[in-house]
Amino acid sequence: MSGLRVAVIGSGPAGVYAAAALTRAGDVEVDVIDRLPAPYGLVRYGVAPDHVKMKSVDAALRRILEDPAVRFLGNVDVGADITREELAQYYDAVVFATGAAVDRRLGVPGEDLPGSFSATDFVAWYSGHPDAELDLFTLQATHVVVIGVGNVAVDVARVLTKRSDELASTDVPGHVLDVLTASAVTEVTMLGRRGPAHARFTTKELRELGEISGSDILVDPADLELSEQEEADVAADRTLRANLEVLREWSTRKPGGRDRRLRIKFWLRPAEVLGSSAVSGFRAERTRLRDGRLVGTGATVDFPAQMVLRSVGYRVVPPAGLPLDPDTGTVPHDGGRVLVDGAPLPGLYVAGWLKRGPTGIIGTNKPDAGETVASLLADADRLPRAPERDPDAIVKLLLERKVQAIGWSGWEAIDAAERALGATRDCARIKIADRETLLRTAFGEL
Ligand SMILES: Cc1cc2nc3c(=O)[nH]c(=O)nc-3n(C[C@H](O)[C@H](O)[C@H](O)COP(=O)(O)OP(=O)(O)OC[C@H]3O[C@@H](n4cnc5c(N)ncnc54)[C@H](O)[C@@H]3O)c2cc1C
Ligand SMILES: NC(=O)c1ccc[n+]([C@@H]2O[C@H](COP(=O)([O-])OP(=O)(O)OC[C@H]3O[C@@H](n4cnc5c(N)ncnc54)[C@H](OP(=O)(O)O)[C@@H]3O)[C@@H](O)[C@H]2O)c1
Repeated sequence: MSGLRVAVIGSGPAGVYAAAALTRAGDVEVDVIDRLPAPYGLVRYGVAPDHVKMKSVDAALRRILEDPAVRFLGNVDVGADITREELAQYYDAVVFATGAAVDRRLGVPGEDLPGSFSATDFVAWYSGHPDAELDLFTLQATHVVVIGVGNVAVDVARVLTKRSDELASTDVPGHVLDVLTASAVTEVTMLGRRGPAHARFTTKELRELGEISGSDILVDPADLELSEQEEADVAADRTLRANLEVLREWSTRKPGGRDRRLRIKFWLRPAEVLGSSAVSGFRAERTRLRDGRLVGTGATVDFPAQMVLRSVGYRVVPPAGLPLDPDTGTVPHDGGRVLVDGAPLPGLYVAGWLKRGPTGIIGTNKPDAGETVASLLADADRLPRAPERDPDAIVKLLLERKVQAIGWSGWEAIDAAERALGATRDCARIKIADRETLLRTAFGEL
């Protein structure tokens, strides 16, 4: 097992926790490779900017990436810049932890009208993701409909309804703060296709929506009536019980005349995004459960809206030709070992959202990565050794392809530049969103 060389693809929580588990095992060298110039995956580009405590998990991830047995190689897209087969020349094993970054679609007419976006796009934009168009959002809409009642829907609804001065102390890029400050949004409506007993948000996150100083929260008490079965489900589940308590309290509130209003509505499923040349409204069909199955009643309700955000979850698109199990929507695996036709592909492993689908919080990825690394270490003696043992060889190959990997010092240069920018707005950091600026900063050209 001595002198194992492992590549971990993806520097989100799953990849970094996998690197930690590998280095704990002893004589293992790990390269953590990411397509982005900056590490940490959705911790940097997903967790909402005002969730400062949650974002500070990056300090723990940083310590892992600073381990001398770990090397960060950013700006390298596995699949595009180097193939999976080529990696086998340099590494004895490869752990893919590339997440599930692609949004799900609604499949209703009008979904692609201008003004209709995925929450993924909105999150990427306010998080300063280098792939996001800087001017994708102008927030000239007064009415916004958010589809879905999961924690991402809660995040985007909160960012839309919070006053921008409450976000000025966060790491949001300057162009994002400017748009949020000039935002015309006054009405945000979140739609759940099932009832409150089936909503996916968690109570702490839900509760924050009632604490937004510039926004009233409105819930229709009729939406909170539960069937006998739902009463039993709620009674048996602590989160559902607490969610219902919060929603019931809100349903008794009268609008306080604040500048913005956030409505949460249930039993309405998407029927159509309305509009001819751009979004002008959203049509939803009333629903109910029949024998436990969601069915439409045929009755529809139209909401005025100039912007629609679908927040209906993510999906896995396996990188570098890895297989996809259409039933689970993930890469087929056994304890993290990638399977093809039921048999493990030697030296190939998966962790995180790529392995178990787009659910679960940051912490869930730790035991998940631990399981994968345990499988890898159990296989170690049987793994064929990579012929190339020089750690610089892969960097040279990439350079020949005009791919300049960003090492840890490059990321540290970005980190320092962002902290210096933060001082200009009296906050810890302002993110650099523009890819070119990120690269030039990393390579010491700025
Ligand atoms: C909007 C949003 C907000 C969230 N907020 C919270 C929160 O507040 N608290 C919480 O506990 N959880 C939160 N989560 C969940 C949490 O972010 C996930 O559980 C976690 O990030 C999944 O980790 P991962 O490493 O599998 O994937 P990711 O974090 O997505 O990391 C995948 C990494 O792989 C890289 N990559 C992708 N393709 C390639 C490639 N071809 N080559 C090289 N690199 C590649 C990506 O650039 C990325 O860095 C949130 C999720 C979302 C979507
Ligand atoms: N603060 C945090 O801890 C935090 C923050 C953000 C994200 N996360 C985690 O990240 C994961 C992903 O979150 P998510 O919000 O993207 O996904 P999610 O929890 O799966 O929620 C998706 C929502 O979209 C709805 N939906 C799906 N398809 C739909 C359709 N066709 N029409 C209408 N509604 C539809 C779902 O309703 P149904 O239930 O009816 O399918 C559900 O309400 C979750 O595990 C979440 O907890 C955590």
